[in-house]
Order: sequence, then C-alpha cells, then structure tokens
Amino acid sequence: MSHDEKKKYTTAELDAMSNEELARLGTELDGVTVAFRKERFPIPNDPAEKRAAVMVGIYLTLGVVLALAFILVYLFWPWEYKYLGQEGLWMYSLYTPMLGLTIGLSIIFLGIGMVNYVKRFIPQEISVQKRHDGPSDEVDRRTLVALLDDSWNTSMIGRRKVIKGLAATGAALAGLSIILPLGGMIKNPWKAGKLGVQGDGTLWTSGWTLHEEGVKLYLGRDTGNMAQEHHGHFTTQGISRLVRMRPGDLDAAGMETVFPLPEDMVNDGDLYNPNADVYEEHMHSIHGPRNAVMLIRLRSADAAKVIERKGQEDFHYGDYYAYSKICTHIGCPTSLYEAQENRILCPCHQSQFNVLEFCKPMFGPAARALPQLPITVDEEGYLIAAGNFIEPVGPAFWERKS
Ligand code: FES
Repeated sequence: MSHDEKKKYTTAELDAMSNEELARLGTELDGVTVAFRKERFPIPNDPAEKRAAVMVGIYLTLGVVLALAFILVYLFWPWEYKYLGQEGLWMYSLYTPMLGLTIGLSIIFLGIGMVNYVKRFIPQEISVQKRHDGPSDEVDRRTLVALLDDSWNTSMIGRRKVIKGLAATGAALAGLSIILPLGGMIKNPWKAGKLGVQGDGTLWTSGWTLHEEGVKLYLGRDTGNMAQEHHGHFTTQGISRLVRMRPGDLDAAGMETVFPLPEDMVNDGDLYNPNADVYEEHMHSIHGPRNAVMLIRLRSADAAKVIERKGQEDFHYGDYYAYSKICTHIGCPTSLYEAQENRILCPCHQSQFNVLEFCKPMFGPAARALPQLPITVDEEGYLIAAGNFIEPVGPAFWERKS
C-alpha cells in the first residue's frame, strides 16, 4: 500500500467505519486477497458445534486434571531415597516416572485440545498478501487492531466460556507445573540447620566446623572403595570410603585431597569393624561443598622458604600444609598442584596460588588467599585438624569480612 493511498482516510472517516468495514479495509490496504473463507458453524446453536465444544472440553479437562495431578505428585508422593530391599522402595521408584507421566500427558491433552479447537472453530481461510516495506502508520495500526478484534469474534472463543476458562486454567497450571519444581532449588542461605559433616547449611560453615563443638576430626583420604556384592546383593557394610592418614602416607612434593572424618565414623586400622556401615556418612563428607582440603607435603628445602601469614604461623605440621581446595574466585576445585613451582592452579579461570606464601593469589581473577586449615598429629600418629578455618571458605558473599 502506498503512503498516498492511506492519506485518503481521515480520522473522522475511520471513526465512522464499523469494525467489519475496518477489518475489510485492513486486508485491502495490506494487499491481502482473501481467496477462500468459510465459517465452521454459520448457523448459531448448530448441534455439531455443541459436539465439537464437548470434545475440545474433554481434552482440555484431561489436561487440567493431569496438571493438577503433577502438582499433587510433586508435593506429596514419597520421594526420599530408599535402598534396595527397604520398605517403600516401589513407591519411591515410581516418583520420577509419575512426574514425567502426569506433566507429559497434561501437555499432550492440552495440545490436542487446542489443535482440535483451531480445526473445528476457527474459520477456514486462504489469504494471499503482497509484502511491502516501511514503518506502519496510523491507518495500519487501527486496521490491525480491528482485524485482531474480528479474529477474536469469529473464532467464537468469546462465546465459548467453558473452553475459554479451561484453556486459561490449563495454561496457568501447565505454567505452574514448570515453575513449581524450581521452588525446590530456592534455599535460604542464612538458615542454619543442625551442624553436621557438611556444616550447618550456611555459607561460613563446613564439616571442619565440627571441631568447634569438640569433635575430633581426622584428615580422611578418599579410597574410592565401592559397594561390594555379597550373596547376590550389594552392600556397603564394612567398607570405608575415608581412612585416616599418617604423615608417612604422603611423599615429599605430594598432594592429597582430604575430607573431615569425625572420630565416630572411623572404620580402619585398629578400629576396623567389618559389621560397621559408615559408607553413607563418608560420602556425605566427600560431598560437603566446602569440605575438600589439599594436604600438601613440601620438600624440606622449600618448606624452609615458606612465608607464614600473620596469625597462621602454627597452622602447619612440619612440612605439611593444608589449604581449602575451594577456589576463592567462584568456587571451583583448585586441583592442580604444580610441585616444581609450588603453585596451585585453578583450572576454571587459571588463578594461581603460591603455596610458599600462605596460598595467596599470584595470577588470575581470585583475589583472596586459600584459607588454611590448622593441622597436627595425634598421640597415635594420625593427622588431625587442630582447629577450624579462621575465615569462610570459597568465593565472596555479603557477610564476608576477609
Ligand atoms: S573459580 Fe578458580 S579461577 Fe575462577
């Protein structure tokens, strides 16, 4: 449509036109030719129209019911882990399939309902439009609104209150079904729970915080042991994932990742009991987000060059130093110990920390030293924590002072 053609219509002329006239004008001005158009139900209260409405209503109702079922399953189905042979395993194992089944069928039925609605109620139409360039002006905007209005009226959705309500409810519930599971991920980072081997849930605690409660914590080495088969079933009884370490277990210029191993969870050496099952607790310690510590044994010549941080002078035991493995940039495991240079490298963004100078950052985006864990050796010769970290482990958060 040319600019001149649109100019022929004044605001008064447009105001005087009916909605139908404006809709027709809109198609003409947009260069649209309606080659074919047929109303699905030109006669009001056609019995076929009612049958079609019932069918669409059934599909949408099923979609709504199944979306509600998904929410109920998500909230009330027994979801807590059950091991093989434990009571309730059958129900637990159906939790994920039930979530998938209800939300999947809900989306399918809502989709079928909407497709059926379009096929049975929206007028059949074949239109051809010429493309044109340039911005839309007043006449285009007015006629477009009129066209949309006309589509709404001819789609009969305004008349079909039940279908309209079911479609809106189904869409709202389907949306809720997608948003609802995200709620499980939202946690209050300041809410402290019971202090355990993973800390109390706040950002400034870890399993090592148990030391402040008088718990003796060994530096537990991860053996990687797995559940073993016994008379046809797998068991973790008598299997220790974490074991205590003595200084002699680590060579000079060596590094070992260790985790807090509380005294009452020890199952190795002279305390080994083949009937004890400490595996799960050990795994909790390994999975503690702030628990991993690098135990480093320096060469004696390097140890002589160490510059201690003020207030941490007695945190090491001989040539053994223990630093948090959680990068102070954004929390990756700083796993790479470069023994020749005595540097720790974080593989995420290449921060480097100087082991000979209290693991202070020397390159990369990390801005704080890796927290040092005070360590010593007990009367039996095992490496233990001599205290908790004196600063929070890992990246920055609002309350951090260091
Ligand atoms: S997380 Fe370590 S450098 Fe970014």
